Amino acid sequence: MQIQIDQTRLLNELQALAKLTDAEPSPDGTAVTRIVFSDDDLRARAFLKNLAAAEGFNVRDDAVGNIFIRWAGAEPDLPAVATGSHTDAIPHAGMYDGTVGVLGGLEAMRALKRTGLRPRRSIELIMFTSEEPTRFGIGCLGSRLLSGTLDPDRADTLQDKDDAPFSAVRTAAGFAGPLSSVQLPPNHYYAWIELHIEQGPLLERGGIPLGIVTSIAAPAGYRFTVTGFGGHAGALLMPDRKDALCAAAELILSVEKHALATGAIDTVATVGTCAVHPGAVNSVPSRAVLQLDIRDIDPNRRESVMQAIRRDCEELQQRRKVTITEEFVNADAPAHSSPHTIQLIEEVCAAHGIPYKKMVSRAYHDSLFMARIAPIAMIFIPCRNGVSHRPDEYAAPADITLGAHVLASVLAKLASE
Ligand code: GLV
Ligand code: MN
Ligand code: MN
Repeated sequence: MQIQIDQTRLLNELQALAKLTDAEPSPDGTAVTRIVFSDDDLRARAFLKNLAAAEGFNVRDDAVGNIFIRWAGAEPDLPAVATGSHTDAIPHAGMYDGTVGVLGGLEAMRALKRTGLRPRRSIELIMFTSEEPTRFGIGCLGSRLLSGTLDPDRADTLQDKDDAPFSAVRTAAGFAGPLSSVQLPPNHYYAWIELHIEQGPLLERGGIPLGIVTSIAAPAGYRFTVTGFGGHAGALLMPDRKDALCAAAELILSVEKHALATGAIDTVATVGTCAVHPGAVNSVPSRAVLQLDIRDIDPNRRESVMQAIRRDCEELQQRRKVTITEEFVNADAPAHSSPHTIQLIEEVCAAHGIPYKKMVSRAYHDSLFMARIAPIAMIFIPCRNGVSHRPDEYAAPADITLGAHVLASVLAKLASE
């Protein structure tokens, strides 16, 4: 079977999708902001559905807005082989995160169709809703619900920064019906393969065109609220202060210290937001709310870092006379690729003489949750300087094409089993 990826078409589609953005034009590249259920997110969904319909694939979406693009196999009742990713983007991000897996997956299906293949199993492309946590605080909403990892009632009550509940926002976007209907049973898919940019530097540094993900690190999220005592920035005497932001600053440094102290490259912890109240230049902060993102391939080590951070919080409360409360957002388990899917990717690479590296993903992906209901694997391609979640994120056309080609080959193998 001679699979030909249409590189020009795929790149044009990636460029066209990148134009659907709320971001201001950026001097450092194509800035993409596409927050779930924003106008541009809805436009991106329509763009994808039109491409799929033009190819004659069956298109449906579920109550959370996950899009399913299905190429019916000769035995349509067999569990389908699935691929895909996400098209939402955090503020001021790049144009390849997620989109390479969605449009690359679509092109892989089209390329297989062009060979005249009639797959035995159906092949399905999924575009997942809100892989990014930007709007509702929890990532992978679509794949969590599909895999039964998130309570539908809890999902519907999540709120965005304007206190709008998820239930209202999704309904306004055109996705009604109970979220409980999104969950699919463990035998629904035969396998799941996700193509994604690495978002790290290892492939590029090694001059290796392809990564096979063997495990995905376990992310967790917590919200800390530091409450002190605010007042006039001129009048409140320094010895009398209980500055919430100063305590928060120490807490942030504690996070960094304890994540570094494990000595493990797979422990990462980030405080990425800090909301200061009242947020005036001449007012001593009375409250600071921090969001912590902490990940590890070893959940026990992740928890030991959390314990160390909590001990520092105790000490900080005493010393700075503030209160610190911790709110649990999510704590997920790591996922592991199935030996069979890994082996199939290795066989494809061997058949085409493609060097590859087996690796861990420290970024999370919808695959983390698909692993709860199906055998999974991920294919990584290099990205320039390892950067992602930035406008200068870049993947070379040859690498995108190679990734889509390997994906198509693996989908064909799985669909014939
Ligand atoms: C996904 O975008 C992540 O934060 O790993
Ligand atoms: Mn991302
Ligand atoms: Mn992604």
